[in-house]
Amino acid sequence: MLHLKFPALTLLFLACVSCVQSDEPHPTSIAQDPRAHDYFSFANTDDFVTEHLSLDLSVDFEAEELSGSATLVLRSKGTVATEITLDTRDLTIDDIDFVLQSGETTSTGHRFGETDIVLGTPLIIDLPVELQSDEKLTLRINYRTSPLSTALQWLPSELTAGGDHPYLFTQSQAIHARSWIPLQDTPTVRIRYDATIRTPGDLLAVMSANNDPEAARDGVYEFEMPQPIPSYLLALAVGNIYFAPIGEETGVYAEPEALEAAAYEFADTQRMLDTAEAMFGPYQWGRYDLLVLPPSFPYGGMENPRLSFMTPSLLAGDRSLVFVVAHELAHSWSGNLVTNATWRDGWLNEGWTSYLENRLMEVIYGADRAAELDVIDYRELLIDFETVPLEQQALAPTFESGDPDDFQGVVHYHKGSLFLKYLENAFGRELFDTFIGEYFNEFAFSTITSEQFLDYLDEKLLTAYPGNADRAQVEQWLYEPGLPDTAIIPSSTNLDNAANAAVLWSQGEVDIEDVPTAGWSPQAMIHFINSLAADLGTERLIELDNALGLSDTHNAEIGRTWFIQVAQRQHRPAYDKLAQYLNRYGRTRLVRPIYFALATNGADLELAQQLFAQARANYHPITNTSIEARFRLAAEQE
Ligand code: BES
Ligand code: ZN
Repeated sequence: MLHLKFPALTLLFLACVSCVQSDEPHPTSIAQDPRAHDYFSFANTDDFVTEHLSLDLSVDFEAEELSGSATLVLRSKGTVATEITLDTRDLTIDDIDFVLQSGETTSTGHRFGETDIVLGTPLIIDLPVELQSDEKLTLRINYRTSPLSTALQWLPSELTAGGDHPYLFTQSQAIHARSWIPLQDTPTVRIRYDATIRTPGDLLAVMSANNDPEAARDGVYEFEMPQPIPSYLLALAVGNIYFAPIGEETGVYAEPEALEAAAYEFADTQRMLDTAEAMFGPYQWGRYDLLVLPPSFPYGGMENPRLSFMTPSLLAGDRSLVFVVAHELAHSWSGNLVTNATWRDGWLNEGWTSYLENRLMEVIYGADRAAELDVIDYRELLIDFETVPLEQQALAPTFESGDPDDFQGVVHYHKGSLFLKYLENAFGRELFDTFIGEYFNEFAFSTITSEQFLDYLDEKLLTAYPGNADRAQVEQWLYEPGLPDTAIIPSSTNLDNAANAAVLWSQGEVDIEDVPTAGWSPQAMIHFINSLAADLGTERLIELDNALGLSDTHNAEIGRTWFIQVAQRQHRPAYDKLAQYLNRYGRTRLVRPIYFALATNGADLELAQQLFAQARANYHPITNTSIEARFRLAAEQE
């Protein structure tokens, strides 16, 4: 039974924090560090941690509703808590049973706390019995989602490739899992799960778990994820989905209409996996497959374990955008295996992954290609530094409010990657590569804070090999805004040449026919477009567009770059094509900056709002929320 030895401590628990499970291999003072607190969850993880989740859900496309049960096994940490608080958003709770060891169930009381617009609504469940430390309890929650669920997109058949089956997919990162499952929605907790998904007719369900491409299409699909994962990696898609193999452990799922193109585009995935294993250590997840989603998928890719979700905008036909595959694959180590404790430590996921992505690109496609990608990323980082508030430019900022989906742009990604490149350079590649493997091995299947990383780095490199980098320099990266002067600025001869060509053409010193664009990568073309003189007239932009086919490009990244310029320059002859682009793609990265450029060009705010009003039904709720935030920012800049 429970011991009420220190009732006064309960108050302290409100402020104190536990970033890790008790079986976490690195118990440090960090557990008491307020920086390890996850401000984006209501769950009382100091009292209970979830160990297992069992889902049984029916998919109803007419009602746009998932309904069924989530059965949670929670382990008590032996505190005096008498309530369990879970995260929810827009969920209807029908009833909650407490499942006894005997299998008997008793119903238990619950209520909702106050709703927060970003965090959702805490679900507070009465604990029917007192628990001792490490004692487990099982809760079965019968519930339904709402059509407003931010994680779910219910697509009518018109918005799919095939056009005659509806489609559903989830996007749980950062804090949307709570809008389709009541749970402790924080990366500080890792759970194993299994699931039974009931779909109408022959629509296939796939999950971030063990998928079976041969599964009978009978409308009942069973899954298991035996490795413990954070809640943001829970994922489900349902649709007219088929499978094509790529390699021994790799393959691609897509609608039949996109399957062949996807298998072609991502043909290098097995090679990437083999390369990654050789460089970062064993791949711990069994298979690695890709799912190509409909166009409204809000991201380039999402690293759902065993099954990355990918935007169809990568299907350029020439494999030129597969760095996104390298990125999502690399998350199998940085993020999925070693996980950021909270979203404030997001660079441990995204910065590490951007760095590893680039290492993979270098091995597979060569140093020139990798350098080009680095320069493009660096430029995007500098642009973000112009708008991201100083206190959010630290890699490990103080980050206690706001929306974790929309917080510091690409700072975690590219400043994080530059930080690791700085370390690689300071200690030499050989030492640093050894460090990479040891790091993933040491922290496998745990969640860590930036400070735990720092302590580990200090022990393994800073102190062990003194004179290469010191702690003060490293802390500058983690805690100061902007870029430290220890940063190694990326450069690429190919991109320098493209930029020079843009200057010469802008000045009328070369004809467009004489610019050697045919041999260029999309990154060179992007850099060329971004390096054009600011004062080009309409005629010259038309000449350029006609010669290079920019408005008609099938490369989504080139299109993005071009239409941002079109909007910034108020180049109206290309506005029809711009509008088409905004309706073709739904990925936030592709469309949001174009709306923003229109909204801030001094003339087209209204047009931007009109175009958004027309297109928004095709976009994902996460994309719409983040475009709306850009419109607010644009209004502030007026
Ligand atoms: N995990 C991210 C996507 C994400 C980030 C979802 C934050 C929700 C909140 C994914 O791995 C990612 O970074 N995608 C990038 C890929 C790119 C950097 C190569 C994207 O979508 O553009
Ligand atoms: Zn990522």
